[in-house]
Amino acid sequence: MTLKISVIGTGYLGVTHAVCMSALGFHVIGVDIEPAKIDSLRAGIVPFYEPGLEELLKQELASGRLRFTSEISEIADSDVHFVCVGTPQTETGLAADLTYVNNAIESIASFAKPGSLVVGKSTVPVGTAARLRQRLLELNPEVDLAWNPEFLRESFAVEDTLHPNRIVIGVVTDTAEEILKAVYATNLAEGVPWVRSDLATAELVKVAANSFLATKISFINAMAEVCEASGADVTVLAKAIGYDPRIGSRFLQAGIGFGGGCLPKDIRAFMARADELGVEDALAFLREVDAVNLRARKRMIELVHADLSENLQGKRIAVLGAAFKPNSDDIRDSPALDIALQIFGEGAFVTVHDPKAMTSAALRYPTLAYAPTIEECVAGADLVLHLTEWEVYREIDPLVLKGLVNQPIIIDGRNALNRDLWVGAGWHFRAMGRQTL
Ligand code: UGA
Repeated sequence: MTLKISVIGTGYLGVTHAVCMSALGFHVIGVDIEPAKIDSLRAGIVPFYEPGLEELLKQELASGRLRFTSEISEIADSDVHFVCVGTPQTETGLAADLTYVNNAIESIASFAKPGSLVVGKSTVPVGTAARLRQRLLELNPEVDLAWNPEFLRESFAVEDTLHPNRIVIGVVTDTAEEILKAVYATNLAEGVPWVRSDLATAELVKVAANSFLATKISFINAMAEVCEASGADVTVLAKAIGYDPRIGSRFLQAGIGFGGGCLPKDIRAFMARADELGVEDALAFLREVDAVNLRARKRMIELVHADLSENLQGKRIAVLGAAFKPNSDDIRDSPALDIALQIFGEGAFVTVHDPKAMTSAALRYPTLAYAPTIEECVAGADLVLHLTEWEVYREIDPLVLKGLVNQPIIIDGRNALNRDLWVGAGWHFRAMGRQTL
């Protein structure tokens, strides 16, 4: 018998998970409290940009296996309920806001059928799953709870969900593991590593992985600071240390640092939880990771001052990139927009371009100017900032662009442009952690 699956929360994670579970052949119902989201998904429109997802959504809707609803009661005949709601940073502190997760468990408990399994996917502070399981058993003793953290990257979400590099499950009972093995049978057959653990370890794997990734980025950005001060080149340094397989070359791209809806909030929530557990010293380094990351944005502003002047009043600055990373329209905690806003605050005329994130950016920050093309963005600019490394920016012909700007000065905030090409075309080229040419 094919399992019936419900996915509660249709944000980034939830939509991708629902669509991919349907693609694997399950009957899936996606549930969200926001009717607008449900209407959009029913119409085959993904409310954000994620390569390949909308096509797959349309395909799966047409297959008849996938539906969306705002009625939580419709989960009643599902065998597995994936909880994919958000756990944003609280307004007042570093900790994660668990309101949505708590509410989801209360609602699921009212409708889940006996023998069904609730599977948490949201990123939560360690200890949450055990508490939620206890609450669930109080409300509905015939339902079990497992934790199955998600490691998908935005802009590779479909690929990461269909072909994960590992599956981690935190379970209390063997039955829960058996059900999850049925859900992930295709992945298991493909040889994807399967890690069974207790609930706490599964929760920790997720934040530990994101903390490690954040640390790697801040490590290379700290090296960039040292390189700048000593005349060295961080891109060559990263390449050289990356050849050591124990270090690895990925996630060593120095620049304006990490943003998005995960890494920044996850390391902060992890520190907050460590405080509660009385092991704050163990994660003290994450404070430094956060500080190095935010300092990268400040250092970019200093470079802007160095190239133009301390006083940015009336200067025209073109910003290439608004999303927190390429191939995404997500602007949550985007380093690019943070920098754009700061220089705008100092009196510069800032014009932003982004291939996908301009609508969300303009909605959120209407005071910045937005240009529909790269050419219009840089027209008359005193300085160009490359802040999100979209491929279209690497394809720019610097000679052509030079004819459009007021002064050919560019700062590469992502160390992704071909410096020789730009310098050869007569640009004054600055990049983070490298010498200016
Ligand atoms: C991150 C993790 O990579 C995923 O494994 C995890 O599942 C996800 O968070 C999550 O918790 O949901 P994501 O937020 O999509 O994924 O983005 P990343 O690809 O990790 O990039 C994060 C930020 O780091 C971006 O702003 C990116 O520009 C920056 N970055 C990345 C660097 O500055 N340098 C690098 O070398 C790599």
